[in-house]
Amino acid sequence: MSTTLSKTIPGQRSTPFKEIPVLRARDGIGGTRAFRRDQIGFLKGGLERHGDIYRFRLLGMRMVMLNHPDYIRHVLVDKSEQYDKNAAIFRIARPVLRDGLIATADMDLWRRQRRMMAPFFTPRTVPKFARNMTDETVSMLERWDARTDAEAPLDVTDEFGQLALRIVGRSLFSADISGVAQSFERAFQLANTVLGDFFSFPFPPLSFPTPSHVRLRRAIDCMDECVSEFIKKRLADDSPPGEEPDMLSLFLHAVDEGDGKGMDLEQLHHEVLNICVGAYETTTNTLAWAFYLLARNPEVESKLHAELDEVLGDRTVPEFEDLAKLKYTRMIVDEVLRIYSPAYQLMRHTREEDIIDGYRVPAGTQVLVNSYLLHRHPDFWDDPERFDPERFTPEAIAERPKHAYVPFGSGPRVCLGKHFALTEICLALATVARGHRLVTPEGAPEVVPDALITLHPKGGVHLRLERRS
Ligand code: HEM
Repeated sequence: MSTTLSKTIPGQRSTPFKEIPVLRARDGIGGTRAFRRDQIGFLKGGLERHGDIYRFRLLGMRMVMLNHPDYIRHVLVDKSEQYDKNAAIFRIARPVLRDGLIATADMDLWRRQRRMMAPFFTPRTVPKFARNMTDETVSMLERWDARTDAEAPLDVTDEFGQLALRIVGRSLFSADISGVAQSFERAFQLANTVLGDFFSFPFPPLSFPTPSHVRLRRAIDCMDECVSEFIKKRLADDSPPGEEPDMLSLFLHAVDEGDGKGMDLEQLHHEVLNICVGAYETTTNTLAWAFYLLARNPEVESKLHAELDEVLGDRTVPEFEDLAKLKYTRMIVDEVLRIYSPAYQLMRHTREEDIIDGYRVPAGTQVLVNSYLLHRHPDFWDDPERFDPERFTPEAIAERPKHAYVPFGSGPRVCLGKHFALTEICLALATVARGHRLVTPEGAPEVVPDALITLHPKGGVHLRLERRS
């Protein structure tokens, strides 16, 4: 239900606008407490009541929820200059991410940093890191095969977490980071939980030393120490970069085309940490959910095995060049990212008043896109809870609006690591599934997502390893 008003808007003089439907506590969906209890349920209730755009208040903040591909394109692409990351979710994540690429709201700093770093993450440069991805996956399989308690289920969330960190460690620092991977993982999980809770109820302030805020501070220090150890070692080593420089070398030698200068050490530290954080939980969860869904969908798993056998022949390990032929593998990954989109909250803050499809969005509004809900929009996804990689055939993709599916965001701030992530996930999935199956242990309960800062499988994914015959 929307009311058309004919107020005057600066810069759009005589444009009449519609009022955004308001979701009120008395609508039966509840207020802040309901949001805190079940953020996705709360937002879904609003969509069912009001449709693809509505507004509500959360602890004094003016929020607008958007759930239509056209609105999402408008904010992330067409008017991206008008929407910055001075939004609640990034303000909350900033004690961890500081002014690195993911969360910075400083547009000039972001432009400079993105210009310097983007050349190292293109489809042409990512293949250089493919061997790190398959080598580390093969080592993980060797560890799995050597286990003495072969029947005990594996905590695959933890296993893929270690894998993601080892891959990023080798790609960033050319180093084996297994010694610090576990403490980084624990510190990240703690920060994700504390900050996820804080997002649903931001009180008391993080500077107030509650026991959980003190633990958060220690977790941040721990992640910082992991990163600074590697940077310090590299700075002390004055040998010239090798023929295949790692990302840290590339960052250290990058200069901005505008002013001819590189990044200072503090910014370098933040960017390295942003890459570790950006690359860790997202790829971990995608791989864990992928094997969870494969274990519960044997027809999809059989089709995957058939493709791997045909494309790889006698080989047990795929190479980067195989990816172009592993089309069904990629469709599986795309579908996993639809159902359990790890970075599911895309928030922005309006710098100036704007009109979206005739609706007035005042300056200072927090705009919320929730890809968990968008990827289940009934107008674009049939039977959305069904795991069905066929949704990602080229024909099916062409029939849908592009912005009905945004696991990596869109526009200028689209995920910097998108090609890296897709390469890593497809190669790791293919390497594991070539010779192994991960099966659901007898009586294992359904795993549900936990809506933290990222979408985490609650309690982890536990699967039993079998060798493919
Ligand atoms: C499945 C894996 C991944 C998913 C689903 C994912 C998702 C996303 C999303 C949705 C954004 C945009 C957020 C927004 O617009 O508000 C983003 C940004 C970013 N991601 Fe990823 N990501 C993944 C993997 C990676 C990897 C592997 C890296 C690094 C190697 C990475 C580094 C970054 C960075 C640096 C940004 C900030 C880009 C900018 O603002 O310029 N991500 N990611």
